[in-house]
Amino acid sequence: MRFDDKSVVITGGVGGIGQALVELFAVEGANVLFSDRSEEDCGDLSEALKRKGLDTHYLAGDLRQKNYCEALIAEAVLTYGGVDILINNAGIIPRGNILDTTDDMWFSALDVNLTAVFYLCRAAIPQMQKAGGGAIVNTSSTWGIYPGPGHIAYCTSKAALAALTKSLGRDHAPDGIRVNAVCPNEVNTPMLRSGFIARGIDPNNAIEELGKTVPLGHIAEPAEIADVIAFLASNDARYVCGETVEVSGAKPVYG
Ligand SMILES: NC(=O)c1ccc[n+]([C@@H]2O[C@H](COP(=O)([O-])OP(=O)(O)OC[C@H]3O[C@@H](n4cnc5c(N)ncnc54)[C@H](O)[C@@H]3O)[C@@H](O)[C@H]2O)c1
Repeated sequence: MRFDDKSVVITGGVGGIGQALVELFAVEGANVLFSDRSEEDCGDLSEALKRKGLDTHYLAGDLRQKNYCEALIAEAVLTYGGVDILINNAGIIPRGNILDTTDDMWFSALDVNLTAVFYLCRAAIPQMQKAGGGAIVNTSSTWGIYPGPGHIAYCTSKAALAALTKSLGRDHAPDGIRVNAVCPNEVNTPMLRSGFIARGIDPNNAIEELGKTVPLGHIAEPAEIADVIAFLASNDARYVCGETVEVSGAKPVYG
């Protein structure tokens, strides 16, 4: 299988795209260590996967803590002997223009969407160097490339993550470490649905309407993003490095 015996760390494993990723990598032979905030949610996911015959490990914690980010990589080394693939998928989306954005919203966006990735990559890269190579896939956003309206902290953090991806890709290509980012437009996950719910809009109707604005006819399902991430992590993408890959169903960013 594509990821036989590969040690894979996935953040945001309990979220919409995260669950698709954890299952895909486990099904395709990887040794998966996933991360998310809640011990209980992580345990539930691990149990549900066990019922499908899939073994995974998890370490719950808060990615805003440097110690936790470093412990996550150490846990993968302890459990699986190294880190071959790091998937930085976790993210948060504080909503608002600059006047709506509190210090806490701003720093939380930067801490989770950017600084945690810095800590995780800095801890994982020496492990990949030791192994003679590896792959890192970050989840930026089309809004990190073409900022959408009214999400100043989110768009700034995702743009910085795209830049971090390109810089790391250049710096560590000679080590055989490929670093890329996927940049989705709208995806049918709790992150998107929570925005509609907060505005009192039925998320199912809203997602159906949103689908009509996408040239391919629907917004992305989590598996459609997970498949691109898996491709970038796999040997099929062995000459792809330092790229930000837009996955939008041909929909441009409006607003
Ligand atoms: N859904 C979309 O429309 C969309 C579009 C473009 C990019 N993205 C990106 O895709 C990625 C996955 O998002 P999703 O849509 O699956 O959202 P989601 O909210 O379903 O999942 C995100 C996960 O990250 C975890 N997380 C957040 N903060 C954390 C913290 N401090 N410590 C540990 N875990 C934390 C959450 O608990 C959650 O399970 C994110 O980086 C997001 O920005 C999503």
